[in-house]
Amino acid sequence: MIRFDLETKSFLLSGKNYSYAMFVNEAGFLQQLYYGKKIAEIDLPFLISQAESPDPEDLNMDMSTDWMPSECGSFGRGDFKSATVIVKRNNGSAMSRFKYQSHKIFDGVKLLKGMPCIRHAENTLTVTIKDDFSDIEIDLNYSVSENSDVLVRNATIRNGGEESADIVKAFSFCIDLPYSGKLSALRLAGNWARERKPVTTPLSDGTLRIESTRGHSSHAMNPFMALLSADCNENSGDCYGFALIYSGSFAISAEVDCHQCIRMQGGINDYMFAWKLGAGESFQTPQAALCFSNEGLGGMSRAYHDFFRCYIINPSKVYKRRPIVVNNWEATYFGFNNEKLFPIIDEAAKLGVDTFVLDDGWFGKRDDDRSGLGDWFVNENKLIGGLKTVIDHCKGKGLKFGLWFEPEMVSEDSDLYRAHPDWAIKKEGVTPCRSRNQLVLDFSRKEVVDYVYNVVSKILNENEISYVKWDKNRDITENYTSSLPVDRQGEFLHRYMLGVYDLAERLTSSFPNVLFEGCAGGGGRFDGGMLYYFPQIWTSDDTDGLERTKIQYGTSMCYPASTMSCHVSACPNHQTGRTTPLETRGAVASLGAFGYELDLSKLSKEEKERVKAQILDYKEIDDLILKGDLYRLSDPFKSNYFCEMLVSKDKTRAYIVGERFRNEPNGHEELLKIHGLADEKFYLISELNVTVSGKALSGKGIVLPRIGDCGSWTWHMVEVR
Ligand code: GLA
Repeated sequence: MIRFDLETKSFLLSGKNYSYAMFVNEAGFLQQLYYGKKIAEIDLPFLISQAESPDPEDLNMDMSTDWMPSECGSFGRGDFKSATVIVKRNNGSAMSRFKYQSHKIFDGVKLLKGMPCIRHAENTLTVTIKDDFSDIEIDLNYSVSENSDVLVRNATIRNGGEESADIVKAFSFCIDLPYSGKLSALRLAGNWARERKPVTTPLSDGTLRIESTRGHSSHAMNPFMALLSADCNENSGDCYGFALIYSGSFAISAEVDCHQCIRMQGGINDYMFAWKLGAGESFQTPQAALCFSNEGLGGMSRAYHDFFRCYIINPSKVYKRRPIVVNNWEATYFGFNNEKLFPIIDEAAKLGVDTFVLDDGWFGKRDDDRSGLGDWFVNENKLIGGLKTVIDHCKGKGLKFGLWFEPEMVSEDSDLYRAHPDWAIKKEGVTPCRSRNQLVLDFSRKEVVDYVYNVVSKILNENEISYVKWDKNRDITENYTSSLPVDRQGEFLHRYMLGVYDLAERLTSSFPNVLFEGCAGGGGRFDGGMLYYFPQIWTSDDTDGLERTKIQYGTSMCYPASTMSCHVSACPNHQTGRTTPLETRGAVASLGAFGYELDLSKLSKEEKERVKAQILDYKEIDDLILKGDLYRLSDPFKSNYFCEMLVSKDKTRAYIVGERFRNEPNGHEELLKIHGLADEKFYLISELNVTVSGKALSGKGIVLPRIGDCGSWTWHMVEVR
């Protein structure tokens, strides 16, 4: 719901449990008034009476706007916090003072062109603000929906003048909130094989800025930050989330100023960014998804999960049962041929797997990571008879077939590179950085994207492929494109991202029956932008039964269980060397889109029986993974165990997975309180053969099983009437 009150010139935007208010103050600025628990229109005059606004008679006074809570920070006129949008004009000036110009409220949403965005919304408000000193205008867009706790924002910057201008900063959102002195910031930091570790630190005077400069959202930092009140915990307290629907280099900053205000803002990273805006042209920023919850981190996460499922992920895929896959990467790495693959496929069929996914190494000259990328033609020396033979073999066993691509990459030792050396990102005269021995294709160039679209489409058209794993195994380093003039190089990284989105859009819409899984050396590009095209993403290359609990726990802060592709791999684990029980690896992987990443034919008879049972069990609960509400019952970073529950929306069924990391001799009995069930309902926990009320489970808790190191348990609960 969006309301505008003409008398007070105020806007009230409300979703399921939150409200967001702004007004046009006497000096003509759009001033932030309120963001928090849902309020009514009747509260607005009170909020306005409390607001401090600049004196309209004396706008030239230094700092007149510095203490005004803003919706878009400007540069050079007394707002000393960092600006939201900076546009340099040809006269050398970049100063700005954006004032309210007009607004409109309409049903639905304005879709972004060529970029991921929400697919629908109930209403959208566009407030146009205009610079006092130039012809630059900004549309601040706000979309809300009655059933969602997420408010979606972005900005469109327009050059209404007759000369071109250079945008040097174009963040998607800005909000100035009161800083109580006791806010903390949570972000998801990490590295390859240990992605998205929640890190929370108190905020104090100054700026905390998280960012990626790597050309993708990155393993190192996710494009998401949350602000936590002092009393915020997993189940209660105020918490604000800020997630970008963007997959490229980004920045989000939390700036505590001298007036006890905190400015939250973020968008495309402004580091080395620039965009030339010709006369009459406009630039759209990616969207940002803002979320408020007063039910703690858990409430915020569930609101984001619903948001991604209902508004971002492809509706034809989001709730559709995902295939259980077996992927050959850790089973064979590059060293496979038909003789090695067929036994895996045969065993997969016997055990109930749905899809066989052929990973890296099936194309070009590709026996290691030094060659072949870009040559998307089957290597018949390895696969005698081509892909068809493998696919026919799968079909004969009742399995579907999936295939790995790394569309954005090229090896110097490849036919593609020999034909088009200029298509790789590099600068004449400078030896390019090689990461994993490969270069990145310049996706800011349309002819490159078109070429990749054609070769990948050809493979998908000519073969029965139901699943594609789209990988990206390195960062971008050189940040240079030969296709843009000197004064436009700052556009490169964003244009690269637009090329990736273009290819993803074209491939996913040309092949609507193919399930595309995202991947970037594991979880290096796990963000809201990618989820628009890929309903699931390979969460991490780390599949260790213990480490994975942490990675999935961190990922769940923002992203739903169904988006996390999770596989059971062999032991000792290839990343950590640790051995964990097969049950534990299965239980942890069952909290996402489930599969295997090992040579099934090498399992013992008894292990095969257990795998068969795991698959059957997963098929009993996969609707909860796709549609349920997630409750994190224990923090694996702070305690000796991990425990998560998925509950059906009507709270009649639940599925719990737990793991104890280290066993203790003669340790205390530990009670786990189970929040998230209905107090008044009674549940049968089948594994324990007990019936108990939701109230008792959240009030008293349940004694945790005492099991060996990295032992696990799964509990299925169903309401008994
Ligand atoms: C990345 C992926 C792996 C695998 C390899 C293949 O590391 O994350 O799952 O596909 O590439 O090279």
